[in-house]
Formats: sequence, structure tokens, C-alpha cells
Amino acid sequence: MTGPGPFPDVARVDARDKVRGMTPYGADNHPPNLAHAMLVTAQIGKGRLVKVDTDAARAVAGVQLVLTHQDTEGLKADGYLFANGRSFQSVQPMIGTAIAYRGQPIALVVADSLEAAIEGAEQVSAEYVTAPFSVTLDSEGTEILAQADLPLPKPAFADKNVGDADAALAAAPVTVDAVYDSAPQHQNPIELIATVASWDGDELTVYESTQHVEGIRQGLAFELGISPDKVRVISPFCGGSFGQKNAMHAQTVLVALAARTLGRPVKLVVPRSQLFHNTSFRPPTRHRVRLGADRAGKIVAAVHEIDQQTSRHDLFPSMATDTSARLHGIPNFRSRERLRRTDVQTPGFMRAPWEHAAAFAFESAIDELAYALDRDPVELRLANELPYDVVTGKPFSSRHLSECLRRGAELFGWARRRMAPRSMRETDGTLVGWGVATGAYPSVISPSIAQLRVTDDGGIVLNVGVQEMGQGARNAVAAAVADVLKVRADQVTTLLGDTKGPPPHLTAGSWGTATAVPAARQAAIDMREALRKLQPEASNGATPAGILRHAKRPFLEVEARHQAPGAPDAVFDRMKQGLLAYVGPEFPEFVSFSFIAHFVEVHVEPATCRVRVPRVVTVADCGRVVSPRTAASQLRGGVVWGIGGALREASEVDPRYGGFLNADLAEYLVPVNADIGDIQVDFVDKPDPMLNNAGVKGLGEVANVGPAAAVANAVYHATGRRVRHLPIRIEDLL
Ligand code: MOS
Repeated sequence: MTGPGPFPDVARVDARDKVRGMTPYGADNHPPNLAHAMLVTAQIGKGRLVKVDTDAARAVAGVQLVLTHQDTEGLKADGYLFANGRSFQSVQPMIGTAIAYRGQPIALVVADSLEAAIEGAEQVSAEYVTAPFSVTLDSEGTEILAQADLPLPKPAFADKNVGDADAALAAAPVTVDAVYDSAPQHQNPIELIATVASWDGDELTVYESTQHVEGIRQGLAFELGISPDKVRVISPFCGGSFGQKNAMHAQTVLVALAARTLGRPVKLVVPRSQLFHNTSFRPPTRHRVRLGADRAGKIVAAVHEIDQQTSRHDLFPSMATDTSARLHGIPNFRSRERLRRTDVQTPGFMRAPWEHAAAFAFESAIDELAYALDRDPVELRLANELPYDVVTGKPFSSRHLSECLRRGAELFGWARRRMAPRSMRETDGTLVGWGVATGAYPSVISPSIAQLRVTDDGGIVLNVGVQEMGQGARNAVAAAVADVLKVRADQVTTLLGDTKGPPPHLTAGSWGTATAVPAARQAAIDMREALRKLQPEASNGATPAGILRHAKRPFLEVEARHQAPGAPDAVFDRMKQGLLAYVGPEFPEFVSFSFIAHFVEVHVEPATCRVRVPRVVTVADCGRVVSPRTAASQLRGGVVWGIGGALREASEVDPRYGGFLNADLAEYLVPVNADIGDIQVDFVDKPDPMLNNAGVKGLGEVANVGPAAAVANAVYHATGRRVRHLPIRIEDLL
């Protein structure tokens, strides 16, 4: 397959609407006679409800309805995403009296106004029987499970055992053996999770901000016991998500139920303080990494062992070593992944869900090895590239990590780096550190259906099942169509995020572009052929509308399907059921990953040890870049987040009471503008020749794989302190 040529830098097709506030987000929809809802949440770490007292709440002026577990008869829990459900966890609150974790909803108050709903929610009280709970990796009562022994699909969730890593490690003259910890984190998209539900007879319409309208449609129908044909879910825009909104949340069905009970549309925006307990989060992890090398700097063995938190009720599996095994060409590789069951809501996807922490650990260890060998860390990595995947023995569909490293080093001026820690300073004594780290992320593909319609008045309308979360999906699919039909991207109208359209896939895991763009491109190619048949003698400059008018045809419509190489047709059935349907990164003929290299400069003020990050250079290999502007934005965002992950972010867990303490943006620290310096991003921009007809791989997640490690490695270079946990704080450096 050959991909398209380089793409022009096109302004966001939705930019004008966005800056004018014209973009309809979920909670912006206000049907007539709308009622407002507020959740009440459990105030114990674990246990059982004895009584919920709603009398005082019902007495608040304007309160119309209070739902508790006594009002949910017939409601079913849909189940957990990784266990063929569509919810972020298997526990659906307010079915029964069990309390699995602090912050679980116990009541929904609905009123004429938001103020009355809040006041009513504050008046609900509850009595509980409490039970002991554990909330950290090391709490008493935490249950440790070997992932390989769990009923999860094999070989996807089996430990890796390539060559003989232990023997090679034992024989290696130079070794690293270190343990790294990462804190739990919550993504905090600006748009909160929210549901607006309204019924017209037995037909339900839900406006919600999500990465997967079909998952919500199917999941809701199951929970309510109605036909999916009666449910429509609409989410044309989503104000940030990063994995948080890729499965159904607890409030959706409760709001739908309230709307049906009340005979009025109901809206709920879950407050940020409640969001910390009512969405998934990035679980804490612990990594032991052992590396062995010969004296010439050939890395001969790696052992990567991981412990990751999960909930008591679900298995959120670790997939981290799928990636760490592919970062470098290490011929002997062994992994062991374990889950630790605790009493929290089920953790889940958050941008580079496993790879952020895994790359911090693995790429810190590679840096430690570079110092043990006295080898430049860029050179060490370049010397350990292999042209094939050691895990499967298959080729990579494309792998330009060396080019990322070389170009990044060039742009950064890496050649001027002195190897020794504490060897570079500003004239005022500020310690300067330069760090490097690489990253990788699986390229996977979900099935996709694209419908393209051109009309004789110049309309070009693409309807494709992909979600726009701000990442630039609209730009990418519009550019793909525009490139083939030789029109401008802003001439293509994109319809997405509505279950009335072709069945949409879950847009996650960085597969959105590699999923929707090939389908959109194929539809455009089919359209071009259909237009050519209408007017074979048309000149190259003829527009689709011109050809239609010439042929006296009001419109032309085509539909194209795309699926991963080697994917069974059954993936389309799974997609139509709103289930996970991706295939990869191991395909019949090859293995596919995106790659990245990050170069970071830190300044450490010697007296206070305050860490600043004045500049970063990041170069990515994501195959062909179809939307240069939004791709660059994705990369910058990933780097900013990496800086936050390295130096700021942690969800604070209180082992005495359970739950998360810093549950708002005042206390959950993220970088602000003053924390971010110059970020230069660049792309290899070579089409992947094997993965799909557009030559695209994924980008969103790989951006967040490695930047935290590069910061940590730069901190070591500046200070001589090797901090093996995230986040790195002033007290670690004093
Ligand atoms: Mo991504 S963290 O799978 O939306």
C-alpha cells in the first residue's frame, strides 16, 4: 500500500464555532421543561446502607423527586468494559445496598432548579454498617493477583517470556536493578461528565459528552431493559476526555430513569469533587526493572515486573509490558504483571494508561544503565535498535525511533551536553539538566464505516463513526476526504457522534485516526471512481458538484468499510453491540507501534530545589500526519501533561477514610502557563506502508509516553539525585 503525500497545515475546521461558543457540548442542551439533578454520595469507605432518609430533601421547595436504591427495581448493571460490558465498572450504584467505595452514589435528587437540587442533596442523610477496607497498594487487606492466572484472554494478558532473561541477566557484567513508583492520577477534562435525558413516549434521547455514543446507547438499553432502537445518544463534541469518557458512567442510567419517572427532561452535571470517585482514574503502579548489558553497551536482558491497583470488583488489566518490550531491541525479555485488589471504583484508561508509568520506570532504568556504562543515553538507545520485534519475531510495520532520536538531538543541541551530573550550570548557579527518554504505543485499529455524499450544490458530507474530543478528529477525516477529492478540508462537512449515523466505534487507545481516516479515505476513493464513471472525460479541475450537474444527478452517495489487517468480520458485530472491537498491535504479518523521543531541559534552583522546565523537544513517528496542526497540538498537550505527571500530579488517598482527598482543581495540581516553557514538536511524517491505506498510526497517547521519564532523567543530570517515584517534588531534592 502507498499512502498519500504530505498534508497541508489546515486550520481547525471547528475553530470558528469554538471561539464563538457555538459548539454544542452535552450539557448545553436544554430541552423545554428541564429539571436539574444532583447526586448524593456515600460517606464511608466500604459497607452497606441501612437507611437513606429522604424526607428533609423532599421537603425542600422545588424538589420533585428523590431516587434511592428503593426506586430502581428492574434496573440491571451492564457490566465492565473489559468483561464485555459498556460501563467503566461492573458496580452500578443504587442497585442494592452494598457500598463498594467512598463516594459511590446513594441518591439522586431532582428539582425545578439546580439550586433546589443541591439543597435537597445536602438534606439527604444515611445510616451505614461499615466494613474494613484497603485503598493503597500496600494496605492490609489488599489482595495480590498474578495477572497470568486470571481469566483474561491469552496470549494478550499472559506474561512475556522471550529468550532467557534471567540467565542473560545473571551473566551480564553491567546491570541495573531498581524499583519505581507512580502515583494515582485523575484526568480533569474541562467539560465535566454530564447527562441530559429526555423521553418522547418510549423513545429516549441522551445528550452526553462521550468517546463512545454507541456504547452508551447499547449499555443504557440493557440497563433499562428496552430495545436499543428506542435509544439515541448524541455527542458531536466532547470537551476533553483522555480516556475518562470511553465507557458509561453511573449517572447516565439514573438520569434517564429520573426523566422517565418524572415525565420531564432531566440534566445532571457531576461536580468535579464527585468526579474523582465516579469516573475511572490512573491507578498507582510499582515497577521493578532489571537490565543487563555487556561492556560494549549491548543490552542483553530486561525483566519488567509490575504491580498495579485494581478494584475489588473488576480486573483492570495491565498492558504495560506490551510496550516496554518494544521500546528497545532487547533480545531476552521477561515480564510479570500483578494486580492488587482494593476498595476503590475501578481504575481505567487515562492517556497512555499503562505506558506513562511504565516508560517512566523503564526509561529511567535505561538512563541508569547509561550512567553505569558511561555511555551517552541517546547513543546507547541508538545502539540497541533492532529492525524486528523480539516478542513475535515479526517486522514492525514501520519503526523510525532512531530518526526521532537523531532529529530530536539535533534540534535540542544534545551534542553540547556534558555527561556528568551537576556539570552544567547557569552563571547564577542554577543547576541545568538535560534528559532524554523514548516512548512507544501500540497501533491498533477498530472497524469503521464511512458514508460520503456529494450534492450538485457543492455539498460534501462525511458521516463517520468517530468521536471529536478536541483532539482534531474532524480535521483528520475532513483532510483525508479533501486530499482525494481535491477540495479544501473546510468544504467537507463532517457529521459524527450520533447513533443515528453509521455505527460508531469507541474512539480511544489512539486508534481514532487509523480507524476512521482509512474508511473516510476509502469512501473518497470510491466516490472519485463513481464520479469518473459519471463523466469519464471530465478534466482534472472538475469539481464533484460540476460533474453531478453535468450528469444531471442531484447527489451521489457511497459507503466504505475499513477494518484492521487480518481482522475477522465479527469485529463489525462487536462494534454494533457497543463492545471493544480493536485488533492489534500484533497483526498476521507485522507488529505496529508509534514511537517518540523527548528531550527535556530542567533548571533546578540550588537553594530551594525548585524545578523548572524551560524547554522540550519532542519528535514523533506516527506514520503519515494527516492533520499537521491538530497533531502538533496533541504532541504539545502530551508533553505538558508529561511535565505535570513528573512534577505535579497525584491523587491523594487517605488510608484512614478511603476515597481521594484533593478532589478539585485547587488541590489537584496540574501545570499552569508559568510552568511551561518552549515546546518544540516535530514529526518524522513517513507513511506506514503496511497498517492501512492512509499510512497513519496513532498519536494522542504516545505523546504522553516518556516525557515524565525525560524530566526525571534531566533532574538526575542536574542534581545527581535519582528520584524513582512520581511525582518528583522539592522535598525529594533538598
Ligand atoms: Mo484513551 S486513554 O484509551 O482514551
